Amino acid sequence: MAQVTRRDFDHFHTPNYSPQNKVIVSGKGSYVVDEDGKEYIDFAAGIAVNCLGSCHPELTKTLKEQTDKLWHASNIFINEPVLELAQKLTEATFAEKVFFANSGAEANEAALKIARRYAFNQDNNKNEIIAFHKGFHGRTFFTVSVGGKPEYSDGFGPKPAGIKHLPFNDISSFESTISDQTCAVILEPIQGEGGVFCATKDFLTSVRSLCDKHNALLIFDEIQTGVGRTGSLFAYMQLGVVPDILTTAKGLGGGFPIGAMLTTDKIGKTFTVGTHASTFGGNPLAASVANTVLTIINDTVFLESVIQKSRRFFSAINQINDRLNIFSDVRGMGLLVGAELIEDVTETAQDLIRHCFANQLLVTAAGPRTLRLCPPLNIEDEAIQEGLKRLEHTLICIKRAGKDAV
Ligand SMILES: Cc1ncc(COP(=O)(O)O)c(C=O)c1O
Repeated sequence: MAQVTRRDFDHFHTPNYSPQNKVIVSGKGSYVVDEDGKEYIDFAAGIAVNCLGSCHPELTKTLKEQTDKLWHASNIFINEPVLELAQKLTEATFAEKVFFANSGAEANEAALKIARRYAFNQDNNKNEIIAFHKGFHGRTFFTVSVGGKPEYSDGFGPKPAGIKHLPFNDISSFESTISDQTCAVILEPIQGEGGVFCATKDFLTSVRSLCDKHNALLIFDEIQTGVGRTGSLFAYMQLGVVPDILTTAKGLGGGFPIGAMLTTDKIGKTFTVGTHASTFGGNPLAASVANTVLTIINDTVFLESVIQKSRRFFSAINQINDRLNIFSDVRGMGLLVGAELIEDVTETAQDLIRHCFANQLLVTAAGPRTLRLCPPLNIEDEAIQEGLKRLEHTLICIKRAGKDAV
């Protein structure tokens, strides 16, 4: 293929993305390579998706084997990989039932619909959903309306009604808003896109008990925090609060699109035949890869290694900050790290992505001022060390000489 440019991208795509001006052509583990053969260290993992890095040999093997067996069967027929995946997910969590989708937004769409219908079956006035400022739940119209950034849902005509947004981690506003009309409360245990803000244990405990008091379902959106990202299979497992519904996607397929909504028998039976569906949900290719992802990640030694790597990251970022005084806050859990730029720095987090890219390091942003690091969970020590060196070099250039220095 001839060299492709950003101009070609802009020519053919709707202009809702602004990617870097180079084409990524291949990847191996925690490294990716561009069209010029330049190698980058990956602290982004495709936005917390490539949990085992690029082209993990066991995932590639699984996918190749499955491509020779069965690609698609539809929900009219049963396939083996999806049955195995449902069993794995239910055995590993509080859940007894699973609905499969293809993305995080679709998993949340299913969660919100099942919660509304579950309440509707008891009382057709019980339809209010409580969500939180800065929350992010996807880009379908329902999920973007539930998300806590009005600019993502404004300008598309009338929004779904019955949704209230509250400050995150604010127990008193939550207590005064939840009522018997509330059918569901949805939150991310760590707000990812919104800026890597962790829910406090006190907040989660209060939300759980008030949901119980008002017979409202608690939905944990673990699309970003799930599948080992925080050092446990799901974040709820170390937060002492169990949701009624949990959604997962991103890391579940290790780079192959899949999403899932997990719930209990009692709630799950609300979805009777015809109430909800997906043509591709439960696709055997996606399910087989996800089975291998779970086999590797849901292992105490592997999860312990995530915690060790997390300690390295947090301690190194804090040390960089001691030297450069460039972050006002470093926060997160496991291998989901947020570092908020101090006000004096004129660059935005998007500028930082661009500067790091120029220094052969992939990073992501969370909100306008927060650098987000979410590397593969199996990132090698040398890649961590070299990546942090490149990050510090980028930050030094930014600090010393401003925008054009890198
Ligand atoms: C917490 C959370 N929920 C939902 C989504 C939406 O997932 P998808 O882009 O796969 O639809 C994301 C994506 O960033 C997310 O981080």
